[in-house]
Amino acid sequence: MANLKDVHGYVDSHADDFIQRLSEAVAIPSVSTDPSRRGDVHRMALWLENQLKRYGVQTRAVPLGQQEVEGKILEYPPAILGRIGDDSKKKTILIYGHFDVQPAEKSDGWDTEPFELHVDRESGKMFGRGSTDDKGPVLGWLNVLEAHHALRIELPVNLRFCFEGLEEDGSQGLDDLIVTETSKGPQGWFHGVDCVCISDNYWLNTRTPCLTYGLRGIAYYQIIVSGPGSDLHSGMGGAVYEPMTTLISLMGKLVSVEGRILIPGVYDGISVADSSELYVPFISPSQTEAYLSHSGGPISLSDDKATVLMGRTREPSLSLHGIEGAYSGAGGKTVIPATVSGKFSLRLVPPQTPDDITKKVVSFIEDEFAKLKTKLKMKVEFVGGGKPWVADTNHWSYEAAKRATETVWGKTPNYTREGGSIPVTLTFADNLGVNVLLLPMGRADDGAHSTNEKLDISNFLNGTKLLGTYLYEVANINSDK
Ligand code: BES
Ligand code: MN
Ligand code: MN
Repeated sequence: MANLKDVHGYVDSHADDFIQRLSEAVAIPSVSTDPSRRGDVHRMALWLENQLKRYGVQTRAVPLGQQEVEGKILEYPPAILGRIGDDSKKKTILIYGHFDVQPAEKSDGWDTEPFELHVDRESGKMFGRGSTDDKGPVLGWLNVLEAHHALRIELPVNLRFCFEGLEEDGSQGLDDLIVTETSKGPQGWFHGVDCVCISDNYWLNTRTPCLTYGLRGIAYYQIIVSGPGSDLHSGMGGAVYEPMTTLISLMGKLVSVEGRILIPGVYDGISVADSSELYVPFISPSQTEAYLSHSGGPISLSDDKATVLMGRTREPSLSLHGIEGAYSGAGGKTVIPATVSGKFSLRLVPPQTPDDITKKVVSFIEDEFAKLKTKLKMKVEFVGGGKPWVADTNHWSYEAAKRATETVWGKTPNYTREGGSIPVTLTFADNLGVNVLLLPMGRADDGAHSTNEKLDISNFLNGTKLLGTYLYEVANINSDK
């Protein structure tokens, strides 16, 4: 693997350029869930497409349709597809990533501007929205392409790319795109793909790299309770049924304070962990304390680290997110809100599916609402979701990733499942019929979606080497092909 050495050398000597490019990417506030930022998500798509083109990647920006927001038609940002290499003697790897990010405002509690990459050389950390989720990893692939292009080294595998700008908003249109392309047979964009590699997750701790073979699914709901024609003065209290009181009562019936989901039948069919799921050794004893405190607070549901880890990766959960229409400003306002909408979601594990869970959720809430015998109106809506995914780690792609991790980090990776969701993962696995691997770049403390999201410089650079090395290990590994 003589070429690989040169690629690693290129990464070392171009660190500053790579960081500069990450600054450019972070400076585009491509927040997909905020309609007012939609132009920036489109700008980000174009930026990425141009970057790919620079390195000889053939690209296609695929429109994904439109949505209506408050009477206005908004174009969804396109998916950016790419392809480079068509050598039938080489394996073909499909890379997925997303170029949209979660919202962020300095006033949320950031120490620096969220859309200006703040490079702190002393701590070796780069702060900025999207640094770890998922612009850093996406740029890791660009770095690999750049190194090969600049050094005039042929890539060891054929590459296909699928980058989207709606992941944080539920990946609208992407499933259809994948199904459509697959149905085109040999003419389809993803034809001939041997496996999928996604870098859009994080280590379980701050020291040990991991390979991730499972993600939880998600099912998101809102309960809308209405009654009064408009908000009422709470001097009316005592005379009317109040939507907030009913909503709080319903939301309070969904989950116990210990995190147990109270909806009948939700746990049906979930397997008990067997000994092949080695959850215990992931976290060294010295790290237990850090692991059991989350985001700075000692708030773990259990004192047993394996229980905590399994709770977040291979058990379902239900979280209450917020109430639209309720008074949430500073100070007191003596109002009875007329219509309130309670938001919650479940994280799902096999064999749960959003369809199956929705039936149970809706009938439970309708029954409970009927029992309350109010004169209010109530509606439960399924807002969106994705199925859980678990892969077979006994596959050459995982073996290649393990070897690459050992080469770059000098450590054997943990094998993990994750608590978050990437809805498209299972769509790839099912439609292309190939193995999917999650190969993370960042660490557990990166704070994706949170304030002061960061990526360590070492993870960006070694992560770039890791993604590159993985391609070489894939090319060298013994497989059926
Ligand atoms: N990168 C995350 C998924 C993730 C989270 C992987 C935690 C590993 C650990 C992704 O960008 C994400 O945030 N997904 C959303 C999907 C949802 C909006 C459908 C999620 O999990 O909330
Ligand atoms: Mn992500
Ligand atoms: Mn995310």
